[in-house]
Amino acid sequence: MTTEEPRRAIVVGASSGIGAAVAHELAARGYDLGLVARRTELLAEVAGSVRNAHATRTVEVYPHDVRSLSEVRGLFDQIVEDLHGLDWIVYAAGVMPRIEPEEYETGKDREIVEVNLLGAMAWLNEAARWFAAARKGTIVGVSSMAGERGRRGNPAYCSAKAGLNTYLESLRNRLSRYGVHVLTVKPGFVRTAMLEGREGGTFWVISPEEAARRIVRAAARRRKTVFVPTRWGLVAAVVRVIPSFVFRRIEV
Ligand SMILES: NC(=O)c1ccc[n+]([C@@H]2O[C@H](COP(=O)([O-])OP(=O)(O)OC[C@H]3O[C@@H](n4cnc5c(N)ncnc54)[C@H](OP(=O)(O)O)[C@@H]3O)[C@@H](O)[C@H]2O)c1
Repeated sequence: MTTEEPRRAIVVGASSGIGAAVAHELAARGYDLGLVARRTELLAEVAGSVRNAHATRTVEVYPHDVRSLSEVRGLFDQIVEDLHGLDWIVYAAGVMPRIEPEEYETGKDREIVEVNLLGAMAWLNEAARWFAAARKGTIVGVSSMAGERGRRGNPAYCSAKAGLNTYLESLRNRLSRYGVHVLTVKPGFVRTAMLEGREGGTFWVISPEEAARRIVRAAARRRKTVFVPTRWGLVAAVVRVIPSFVFRRIEV
């Protein structure tokens, strides 16, 4: 008789969209899950549907606001204890409120930075410490194409995602010596609540399920960065070399 290796993962931002789809994808690959987000009912629904599809998996839910930084260490330790260890963490929490062309609202910007960047640092710092000691582990951060350049549409979101890219690269450089793998995910457009109400301007839109398959596959293959889908890598290469005087005219 062979004993199955335990597989345990935390998904932060699991109540909808990409995070919820990643939870399903990981359960299909045999992972027990700790799911984190604020909306308790939605989180319970996601957990229920994962359990229905994969009856042998343990799926626990942990209501939490990632802006409550002081709660993170205790909650991380509790989840690791409940799951009897940890092998993966996926940080998918994010917000992208609409910013009007003439709007300069620090309160809104603060929320964007707190959820997309600071929360990621708080959760992934805990995972980094745990995985470095365990000499193994996989860290996945969901960033965005928006982090490639400072677009005029949403300065704080672009800044937070650019910051997340750099933070994840630093983590990778710190942790590779311990055998810990860090993946930066750069999606284009994914059909989730985040895209709702956006009139026009989107193309190559994929489902959260397809995004999740691509993300989990790239992390399992120990890729450093994945564009979701791959063709966004070409767009990024072009976007990076567009001169500012042209880029500032682009309506994105
Ligand atoms: N959709 C796209 O086209 C696209 C493109 C590029 C990158 N992304 C990135 O993909 C990630 C997932 O977004 P999505 O498209 O799947 O949108 P979504 O369906 O709105 O999911 C966002 C997730 O973040 C969680 N979240 C937001 N604020 C939170 C807070 N304060 N505390 C804890 N959790 C919080 C939400 O849970 P609660 O509200 O329940 O807390 C939800 O689970 C984000 O980082 C986003 O920037 C999306």
